[in-house]
Amino acid sequence: MAERIEVLLTEEKINTRIREIGEQISKDYAGENIHLIGILKGGSFFMCELAKRISVPVTIDFMSVSSYGDQTVSGGKIKIKKDLDEDLTGKHVLVIEDIVDTGRTLNCLEALLKDRGAADVKLCALLDKPDRREVSVAVDYVGFQIPDEFVVGYGLDYAQRYRNLPYIGVVKFD
Ligand code: IMP
Ligand code: MG
Repeated sequence: MAERIEVLLTEEKINTRIREIGEQISKDYAGENIHLIGILKGGSFFMCELAKRISVPVTIDFMSVSSYGDQTVSGGKIKIKKDLDEDLTGKHVLVIEDIVDTGRTLNCLEALLKDRGAADVKLCALLDKPDRREVSVAVDYVGFQIPDEFVVGYGLDYAQRYRNLPYIGVVKFD
């Protein structure tokens, strides 16, 4: 099936917003260290750009969880595909995700990471689709709220493609 990508958020708009979030996070965590946990693969692009805009000391780790497969609808529960390298005991954890959709991924992750002894766990997502929420989750830092459309770019994929687009676009099927 032929598909095309319509720009929703330009690279410039995303960069500006990431700077703002980085400044906000740096203020909120003043005097502390942050342990950033990037959710692979989608969250990794946002994580790297955001980490560069945070001025307090950070350490980083990654985790891979799945809920979607190659479909454009949510699959339900999450599965850990790659676990963290570092122990979380006493750390100020900030989870970095590409998008909050049904809320299942971040809802599950928050509980799981708190259970591992983090001092606190906060959540940060580049995008939020509030209309799609099925499970309540309090996301502390959100880049942009977007309408209920399937988006790609800046780490987000459609069947593993388009992650490398420097902007966020909507997939249109003609
Ligand atoms: P949730 O558990 O339903 O909140 O799903 C979050 C995950 O679904 C994200 O980490 C993405 O991998 C994926 N996802 C949700 N919406 C989109 C989208 O519009 N484009 C690409 N991936 C999406
Ligand atoms: Mg994801």
